Amino acid sequence: MRFTAVVLACASTVLGYTILSPNQSQGWTNQGPQRATWQRVATDRENITIVLTNTNRSLMPTDQVLSALVDGNLGNMTLNPPSAGWPSPGPGYVLNFASEATNLNQILAQSPPFEIELSTVVPTNTKTTAGNPTSASTSDKDAPTDNTIPKNGGLSNFGVPVALAVLAGLVPAILA
Ligand SMILES: *[C@@H]1O[C@H](CO)[C@@H](O)[C@H](O)[C@H]1NC(C)=O
Ligand SMILES: *[C@@H]1O[C@H](CO)[C@@H](O)[C@H](O)[C@H]1NC(C)=O
Ligand SMILES: *[C@@H]1O[C@H](CO)[C@@H](O)[C@H](O)[C@H]1NC(C)=O
Ligand SMILES: *[C@@H]1O[C@H](CO)[C@@H](O)[C@H](O)[C@H]1NC(C)=O
Repeated sequence: MRFTAVVLACASTVLGYTILSPNQSQGWTNQGPQRATWQRVATDRENITIVLTNTNRSLMPTDQVLSALVDGNLGNMTLNPPSAGWPSPGPGYVLNFASEATNLNQILAQSPPFEIELSTVVPTNTKTTAGNPTSASTSDKDAPTDNTIPKNGGLSNFGVPVALAVLAGLVPAILA
């Protein structure tokens, strides 16, 4: 059964899902979530599995499922990077819409080849700057919930003692 279905799907020209972006002029970067947009017609399958691939296997050794069982009616989706991050920047990337997460060769739609560019944006999730003693000393009196010191969120219950400890640490420096 399954085998027959696959052969038929490959043989037929499916008029349906059209991937609008990414495309030649609107590619992706290699950092952070990336957006895909598409059109669906009523006869199209309800849900799709979005797969990133590249025929150049030195850029992308294996295909990557970016999201499975996506509601096709959404028309757009923000896709998070794979756990290992986006593949190497370069040209020739293609987005496939597969019908089954278990059979990625059954393709409903394919984007034009697009480029994944090296991102020039500084990542926003590296704001793990260590506690700022200045802000700690100004806020420790009345705001133990203002968690400005700890790199370790688990310390927040002990905001006051930690703040005092920091303050105590500062005093000799101030007096010196
Ligand atoms: C590429 O995608 C962008 C953003 O969706 C769109 O504005 C543009 O028309 C598309 N270009 C082509 C050639 O499809
Ligand atoms: C996905 O779509 C197929 C065909 O439209 C449908 O049979 C199936 O129940 C859907 N699965 C989910 C989880 O929505
Ligand atoms: C594949 O990508 C590698 C790395 O960017 C590049 O050196 C090589 O020329 C590419 N091969 C083809 C056939 O485009
Ligand atoms: C993206 O999808 C949401 C939900 O379907 C829709 O409300 C929104 O208008 C879409 N945005 C674009 C740019 O297509």
